Amino acid sequence: MKVFIHAFGCQMNKLDAELAMGALRRAGGEPTENVEEADVILYHTCSVREHAEERVYSNVGKLKFLKRRRPEIVIGIMGCMAQKDRGAIFERLPHVDLVVGTREFPRIAELVEEARTTRKHLLACSEEAPVDEARDPAVRPNRTQAFLTIMRGCDNFCAYCIVPSVRGRETSRPLGEVVAEARRLVDDGVVEITLLGQNVNSYGKSFGRPGVLVELLERLDRLNGLARIRFVTSHPKDMSREILQAVRDLPRVCEHLHMPAQSGSDRILKAMNRKYTAAHYRELVAMAREIVPGIAIASDFIVGFPGETEGEFDQTADLVRDLRFQNSFVFKYSPRPGTAAAKLSDDVLPEEKKRRNLELLEIQLRVNREEHAALVGREVEVLVEGVSARDARRVTGRLRTNQIVVFPGGEELTGKLLRVRILSATPLTLVGEASAECGTNERPPATP
Ligand code: 5AD
Ligand code: SF4
Repeated sequence: MKVFIHAFGCQMNKLDAELAMGALRRAGGEPTENVEEADVILYHTCSVREHAEERVYSNVGKLKFLKRRRPEIVIGIMGCMAQKDRGAIFERLPHVDLVVGTREFPRIAELVEEARTTRKHLLACSEEAPVDEARDPAVRPNRTQAFLTIMRGCDNFCAYCIVPSVRGRETSRPLGEVVAEARRLVDDGVVEITLLGQNVNSYGKSFGRPGVLVELLERLDRLNGLARIRFVTSHPKDMSREILQAVRDLPRVCEHLHMPAQSGSDRILKAMNRKYTAAHYRELVAMAREIVPGIAIASDFIVGFPGETEGEFDQTADLVRDLRFQNSFVFKYSPRPGTAAAKLSDDVLPEEKKRRNLELLEIQLRVNREEHAALVGREVEVLVEGVSARDARRVTGRLRTNQIVVFPGGEELTGKLLRVRILSATPLTLVGEASAECGTNERPPATP
């Protein structure tokens, strides 16, 4: 049984697709990257913006001909869009066999088996099923870096966001279970772990220990062989001095946050139900930089939220200009059914959303150009991620602060922690040369 899985959307979706592949492998499946030869074709979907859904409908729509030629294949839609659209997917795409939601995808092997024997449309979108987090180390796409889900779901109900309705209430995995999984990953050769959750700063709240993220970071920091730890995504309202001090004090925890601001206008932030003001966000960034000098902060922004005026957008542009993010991910507002914002009129014109989007990206690009230029001539700690897709004689890696760097080298460097001198820079990448290897327990040279 050859299995093709494609994941759209966030890192958690990519990891969930990996768990699904693991489950299928245990049942005799074998991964393939070629849809044409697959016996099972699965799409792990995202519904955060309409555009992501359109791509799935279009990709899967095209499989109609393949299914006509090979009716024995099983086609499945998993993840957020499955949870949201459920049985309606069969109406739009009758050649789909399986619709499996955000909590039942670990059962994918038995569902595929059932679909093969009954040849009926199968729907598995329970909202209560506990998520089986079992993973198969053999299907990890990357031998040295791994994601690790520490919590699922979200209780914040930001007005624009569909996540709480498709991924359910926030539930943290037990501390011991997360540490044990991290240890297994490290024993299996992983040197960088990125902890995942919709709102990692409130890790532990569901088992009555809010603030326990710090203890988790401390325990992971003691794992021998692990070089780097990251955690995403941080909600500004739950960012604390203690977490920032942990970033400062724990050598393996990288000086890097992903803490979305979403907007620089207080009226829009209130309408988004974000529970902080632009001034508070600015203070948080100042506090982070005071406690952890050189910390890199990345942010998300939504442009064209209902009613966003030119003046309100300008406040967002000012925030991006002032706070000098390591990166800004900018999204055009997309109304999502069932969310609070969907009741408001989506009144910012598409071309206006596009203009605001480009303007923010332009500001961010200027910041990146300046920040990258300032790194030229410096020596930084780099974790090698692998051979560059564009040039087989070079490798790519990341700084602790998450910037990408390319330099001469081969596959044997993957997973190594090196000192690299930065020779030149563009707004998107740094170019360097390796000067020495650093041990995983060594404190890294400071990055500006
Ligand atoms: N429209 C546009 N962007 C959205 N995001 C979440 N929901 C929407 C939406 N309805 C963005 C937010 C979030 C990121 C993952 O996606 O910026 O941080
Ligand atoms: Fe969505 Fe807000 Fe939860 Fe993030 S914090 S997943 S934006 S509801």
